[in-house]
Amino acid sequence: MTTTLIDRIGLLYTGDPEREEIADAALVVEDGLVAWTGPASRAPDADRRVDAAGRAVIPGFVDSHAHLVFAGDRTAEFQARMSGEPYTGGGIRTTVAATRRAGDAELTARARRLVSEMLAQGTTTVEIKSGYGLSVEHERRSLRIASELTAETTFLGAHVVPADMDADSYVRLVAGDMLTACAPYARWVDVFCERGAFDGDQTREILQAGLKAGLGARVHANQLTEGPGVRIACELGAASADHCTHLTDADVDALASSGTVATLLPGAEFSTRSPYPDARRLIDAGVTVALATDCNPGSSYTSSMPFCVALAVREMRMTPLEAVRAATYGGARALRRTDVGWLRPGARADLVVLDAPSYAHLAYRPGVPLVHQVFRGGLLLEEDIQNPPPVVVL
Ligand code: NIG
Ligand code: FE
Repeated sequence: MTTTLIDRIGLLYTGDPEREEIADAALVVEDGLVAWTGPASRAPDADRRVDAAGRAVIPGFVDSHAHLVFAGDRTAEFQARMSGEPYTGGGIRTTVAATRRAGDAELTARARRLVSEMLAQGTTTVEIKSGYGLSVEHERRSLRIASELTAETTFLGAHVVPADMDADSYVRLVAGDMLTACAPYARWVDVFCERGAFDGDQTREILQAGLKAGLGARVHANQLTEGPGVRIACELGAASADHCTHLTDADVDALASSGTVATLLPGAEFSTRSPYPDARRLIDAGVTVALATDCNPGSSYTSSMPFCVALAVREMRMTPLEAVRAATYGGARALRRTDVGWLRPGARADLVVLDAPSYAHLAYRPGVPLVHQVFRGGLLLEEDIQNPPPVVVL
């Protein structure tokens, strides 16, 4: 068993609420796990030493919301939006048509490429949803592909009603045969609860069926309008309510008094030119907040957690500390994981060495590639971010 000492860390953000920041720090990795953190002056001996040379270290980002299994392109829709068209979610069906046409190899290669992009930008855990198949066969295929890339797979058959079906029959299919076919590849069930997608009753029915099949629940809630999504998520004990852009006081209270994490996706507001969610209101009410990319070809085609951190600080009035916490610890809470999202003894040694003296540079120097090195399970994944290594199964 070799041990590695990461020495001379300028500022270590541990993500551990008990001891969040350590200046002039060191960290020891043993057997893929964090074995020790503390001041560099008190670091124990190790077999191998990595010199961080004053750089900051943070936990690997936990991107708890992404749609990576798709084909096609929606540049034209984006351009129309930037000329003043509103975002409606109607474009989802365009991606469904392209995804159904694509072969397995193409879908796999595209998803892998996005996971590679994410790794190069410091994301060491990612959740991947289906939702661009919308038939038993195509949803199952999407989840099979996703399950080759991550353990955090989410069945989102209830993304929209496909063009060739009526809503009632589709809800029955999703909660019945489609769920049965997809559950073996899924850890979570999700519903897009929104006007034009699924209403409160339909959302509840599908989530309850998923829970009964042994999946955990998460909800696309209150993205475009106020609605019942957040309250249903809290009521059913969902791990997260995602988007949370349009909230009533009752929604905020429900989140604050539940274990449901509010996952904010500022890439979606950026790409749809919409008002950002009110992160301050949620944090001040005591809600646990996560940040994620929502990487998808329609509403948020970014794979970059650093970009989302910068947006959260500039546009959502989060402090750099709150934003980095939400992108690591918050993401792990949203996935109900205790082995990632923080760097404390026993956690997986997933960490990012930043080419900066502090995590605050992620917002202070937006758009700059600050990821110097990424370690996953204690192994250095890349020294040169221009040449990302093959994707490893997460
Ligand atoms: O999270 N809101 C629903 N689903 C995605 C958008 C999907 C799309 O437009 O293709 C989202 O924003
Ligand atoms: Fe989404």
